[in-house]
Amino acid sequence: MLTILESCSNIPLYKTKSENKIVRVPVNAFLKSKYLIVIPLDVSYNITVIKKTETDFHSLVMKCTHADNPVQFIGNEFKCSLHGSIFDNSGKVKTGPAEKPLYSLVTELINNELIINLK
Ligand code: FES
Repeated sequence: MLTILESCSNIPLYKTKSENKIVRVPVNAFLKSKYLIVIPLDVSYNITVIKKTETDFHSLVMKCTHADNPVQFIGNEFKCSLHGSIFDNSGKVKTGPAEKPLYSLVTELINNELIINLK
């Protein structure tokens, strides 16, 4: 059964567990939004998945590359409250002190399921 919650920024949330460093998300989790925040309950960070096309999805680790603080997805960009870094919706740094983009995770669509590789 698909359980979708909604974050305070109106982006749907999907809670799940990883298995062998893989997170699986049913593609119908994107029926209402091109964004989805995936919360792997056994991993220390959340993941924002962006639906770029019907078959192309981009997954970003919601952890600041400056000092590992969680980032929030607000107003189409990622913000870190610790020292103020801002990343655009593709994970590129807009404002430092972070210098590296958010980490991307390999994401494939197979049989109506997203396979997000945490390795
Ligand atoms: S940890 Fe995010 S800006 Fe420093």
